[in-house]
Amino acid sequence: MTAAEWPGGASVVSGVGQTRGVRKIHVIGIGAGDPDQLTLQAVKALKSTDVFFILDKGEEKSDLVQLRRDILDAHIPDGAYRLVEARDPDRDRAAGGAAYSPAVGDWRSRRADIYEDLIARELGEDDSGAFLVWGDPALYDSTLGILEEILERGSVSFTYDVVPGISSVSALVARHRTGLNRVARPVQITTGRRLAEGFPEGVDDVVVMLDAHQTFEKYAGEDIDIYWGAYIGTPDEILISGPLGEVAPRITRVRAEARERKGWIMDTYLLRRRTRE
Ligand SMILES: C[S@@+](CC[C@H](N)C(=O)[O-])C[C@H]1O[C@@H](n2cnc3c(N)ncnc32)[C@H](O)[C@@H]1O
Repeated sequence: MTAAEWPGGASVVSGVGQTRGVRKIHVIGIGAGDPDQLTLQAVKALKSTDVFFILDKGEEKSDLVQLRRDILDAHIPDGAYRLVEARDPDRDRAAGGAAYSPAVGDWRSRRADIYEDLIARELGEDDSGAFLVWGDPALYDSTLGILEEILERGSVSFTYDVVPGISSVSALVARHRTGLNRVARPVQITTGRRLAEGFPEGVDDVVVMLDAHQTFEKYAGEDIDIYWGAYIGTPDEILISGPLGEVAPRITRVRAEARERKGWIMDTYLLRRRTRE
């Protein structure tokens, strides 16, 4: 592939204007569940990839691996691609409080070991590889940090580019036909763990991700509307919105049932405090 064909532009160019001898990696955002959310830039990057790396998170999330395979089958004719699968290391999910950050750091390093090995073993010097990242690679995803960690270690060299994807946050507000922010007002994106510590100060619009414990229940007595979505963009999508005090019990029930039925759940919500304006 010439530098001009490389979707992110030429990252490493030799003196005579050719890219040579440097592995290339695309980090491709694939949208939050609907294969139609793949951008044209993502499709171009898929087509210019020799080897795809897929990290399997275990039985319960195999649907997510299958969706990646479906995307490849839809865009790369005759199955003419190479797929390499590896098992994602388990994270110590019991670690809380002060132990949380070290546990995440340790998990990230173990992931870096696996990625480093995959890149060194499976990519020839002139090959390009790709990681298909859920939603947008820039939002609550560790792939970019892991690639930087590997480069810092210095044992394997490569260049990489990032193809943005439609995040679950964009998909959530689109499905609810609402904006992310109100006119000239800020919005904050946070985690369930952070929301449990208190409602963020200085904002009335808060998007919550990675919440395993229905933390919205804590604010059910306040003047807040919720826009909630699970499995957004997939055939299992569930959307519920309304005054938090009214709909929180229903969301909790529906969420528990869906989780039981599928074995896993991914949900995101926007909390919008009602103000006088
Ligand atoms: C590790 S983060 C990855 C976020 C992803 N990079 C993005 O741009 O959406 C996983 C969290 O994203 C949210 N999420 C991802 N896909 C979702 C979907 N299809 N429906 C609802 N929430 C989703 C959930 O809050 C989940 O806990």
